Amino acid sequence: MTSYKLVMPGDLNHYGFLFGGKMLMWVDEVAWMAVSGDYPGRNFVTVGMSEVTFHKSVHPNSVLRFEANRKRIGRTSVTYRVEVFRRQMDARDEIGVFTTDITFVRVDENGAKIPVEETT
Ligand SMILES: CC(C)(COP(=O)(O)OP(=O)(O)OC[C@H]1O[C@@H](n2cnc3c(N)ncnc32)[C@H](O)[C@@H]1OP(=O)(O)O)[C@@H](O)C(=O)NCCC(=O)NCCS
Repeated sequence: MTSYKLVMPGDLNHYGFLFGGKMLMWVDEVAWMAVSGDYPGRNFVTVGMSEVTFHKSVHPNSVLRFEANRKRIGRTSVTYRVEVFRRQMDARDEIGVFTTDITFVRVDENGAKIPVEETT
C-alpha cells in the first residue's frame, strides 16, 4: 500500500525538522490501514516495531511516501515492512529516510488474540 503525507509546520520539533514521534505515528497508521485492507472486518492492534532508525532528517515542505508491504503471516500476527521516502516539494528525486517492520495481532472484541485466518 502506498500513502503520502505533506510535512507541515505543526509536525516539526524545536530544531525545525520532523519530530520523530510524528513519523512513528504515521508509520503505525499507514501499516494499520494496510492490514485492515488486507483483512477487512478483522481487528488488529500494534504489538511491536523492529529496530527504529531515522536515517535522514526531514525538512518542512517535504512530501513523504510510505510503502507498507506484508512481509510475514504468523498464527495470530501479521508483519509489514514500512519504508518511507522523502522528496522536496519542488524536486523529483527521493531519498529513503526510515524503515521498520511493524507487527499487528488480531484480537477479538475483548482484546484477546485470535488466529489471523480464523473465521468468526
Ligand atoms: C497484542 C496482545 C493481545 C498480544 O497478546 P500476548 O499474549 O502478549 O501475545 P503473544 O506474546 O502470544 O504474541 C502474539 C503474537 O505476536 C507476536 N509478537 C509478540 N510480541 C512481538 C514483538 N515485539 N514484535 C513482533 N511480534 C511480536 C508473537 O510472535 C505472536 O505471533 P504469532 O501468533 O503469529 O506466532 C497484547 O500484547 C496486547 O493487548 N498488547 C497491547 C496492544 C495495544 O494496545 N496496542 C496499541 C499500542 S498502545
